[in-house]
Amino acid sequence: MSEGFQGTIAVVGGSGDLGSAIARRLAKAGRKVIIGSRAADSAAAAAERLGFGITGLANADAAAAADLVIVTVPFAAQETTLGAIAAHVVGKIVVDTTVPLVPPRVMRVQLPPEGSAAVKAQGLLGEGVTVVSAFHNVAAHKLIKDAEVECDVLVFGDDKAARGTVVGLVRDCGLRGLHGGALVNSAAAEALTSILIFVNKTYAVDGAGIRITGGLTEPA
Ligand SMILES: NC(=O)c1ccc[n+]([C@@H]2O[C@H](COP(=O)([O-])OP(=O)(O)OC[C@H]3O[C@@H](n4cnc5c(N)ncnc54)[C@H](OP(=O)(O)O)[C@@H]3O)[C@@H](O)[C@H]2O)c1
Repeated sequence: MSEGFQGTIAVVGGSGDLGSAIARRLAKAGRKVIIGSRAADSAAAAAERLGFGITGLANADAAAAADLVIVTVPFAAQETTLGAIAAHVVGKIVVDTTVPLVPPRVMRVQLPPEGSAAVKAQGLLGEGVTVVSAFHNVAAHKLIKDAEVECDVLVFGDDKAARGTVVGLVRDCGLRGLHGGALVNSAAAEALTSILIFVNKTYAVDGAGIRITGGLTEPA
């Protein structure tokens, strides 16, 4: 197996669009991936569809069996889902991908009172869990295909080493992951998604993405 994170990764909500795409890309890169769903049989069916050795379990069991957990559920399901896995993620990295969209006005930035979905996740899970956020600005329907996705992924978190681990997982997914700083900065990427949805509609784009320009030097 190549360098990078060697542990088991659970994708909670991995039966959905973004989770399936991330799970597939990570498993294809050689990572050990378990999909989580509210229903174990749905998880198993999704895992079977995706292939690459992915397995499926109920969300809490997937989180318990994993060393790192990626959460890919709608904002409206974030609190319940984190509640279901909270006891199983203490001491682990939880990667929150939640964009706090509030339908039907998904083209308007509507951040939660906590400031961002990522900060809300940290508050719900407590300090014993290292929350990192990422993948807010990448279109799932592009990520599920094998073609290159023209989009950088900003990664936020208060623990630099944990952020670095997730930057590596983004690289495993075939995208450029960039440190975006502290978890509170996640608000910027979460907000940007509403703007990208607006751009998609206004300019008839099939999944606009973001690129950070300039000659970047790898951080020490
Ligand atoms: N789709 C994208 O292109 C994209 C891009 C960037 C960020 N995001 C963000 O990533 C997250 C996931 O997006 P998605 O499009 O993948 O979502 P999705 O396909 O609508 O849902 C993902 C999974 O969440 C679970 N879920 C749905 N409703 C639920 C509920 N009421 N309670 C508990 N679990 C529920 C379902 O899993 P089970 O039924 O199997 O439990 C579902 O398969 C969202 O926060 C979204 O804003 C999405």
